Amino acid sequence: MNKIFKIITNLSAVAVTGIIMVSCSADKDSAGLEYMPDMYRSPAIEPYVDYGEVRGKINETLKNTASALTPPKHTVPYYGTNEEDVLLMLPYNRKPSAAFASTHGLFGYDYTTNTEADYEYNQAANDKNPLILNVKNSEAIFKKGKELFAANCMHCHGEKGDGNGPMVTSGAYAGVPNYADKAALGDGQLFYSIYYGKGAMGAHASMLNKKEIWTLVHYIRKFQNASYGTFSPDGTSAVAAVSDSVKVDKPAKK
Ligand code: HEC
Repeated sequence: MNKIFKIITNLSAVAVTGIIMVSCSADKDSAGLEYMPDMYRSPAIEPYVDYGEVRGKINETLKNTASALTPPKHTVPYYGTNEEDVLLMLPYNRKPSAAFASTHGLFGYDYTTNTEADYEYNQAANDKNPLILNVKNSEAIFKKGKELFAANCMHCHGEKGDGNGPMVTSGAYAGVPNYADKAALGDGQLFYSIYYGKGAMGAHASMLNKKEIWTLVHYIRKFQNASYGTFSPDGTSAVAAVSDSVKVDKPAKK
């Protein structure tokens, strides 16, 4: 009995060592033999890719089928059920001029029929930031603005918003303005320029949603006036604001 047990133990030790040896590979970039490849790599089903071929197998029914389709015009993405958020996300009512198709790559948009240069941009001067700052939300809005700015704008506009980002100081790029010189612009104009682009700045409509752009508009105001959007303890704005967009959400009198 004991002898048989020994033989079995020895045989299984040899088998396990054998399996381990076989699964190794001389190529140091290879994981060796994969016993369950599905656990290591999922099929590469990616949008915009012809995934008719998955791991060497051609699937005729999937071949050349676009997996991500462009949504129909005026589709509003789902942003939850918070009414304030949803209202901020509704389609933008200002249109680009047809020239933006060649200057900023905005194909397939509804262009303005007004031929006056900058007509819509000038109209946007009166649009107020619909994301209204108050005592409770301002800190979070500026924090989010800082994040978005660092990820999308700082390399050109600079950490201080003075137009001296690394893209500019390296000599790769020029013509980025100092935000301080843009204080006279309306909130809507800042939004319009970020959304559709302006001059050498590209459009951000496809990269940032409208709430994020309005958040950045607040953040830009902060560069223009450090106390923009700060509140005194009674909830009134300590600052008359760069624009008059800061509506004060006064707490109810007790
Ligand atoms: C590739 C560099 C680059 C990036 C990235 C960039 N900008 Fe700009 N930005 C510019 C340039 C150049 C101008 C000047 C455009 C002009 O007036 O011709 C400008 C102008 C502006 C203006 C003034 C618009 C006006 O109406 O005069 C605002 C506001 C602005 N940018 C905000 C942003 C924000 C916010 C981001 C990030 C989401 C951003 N920019 C990303 C280069 C850039």
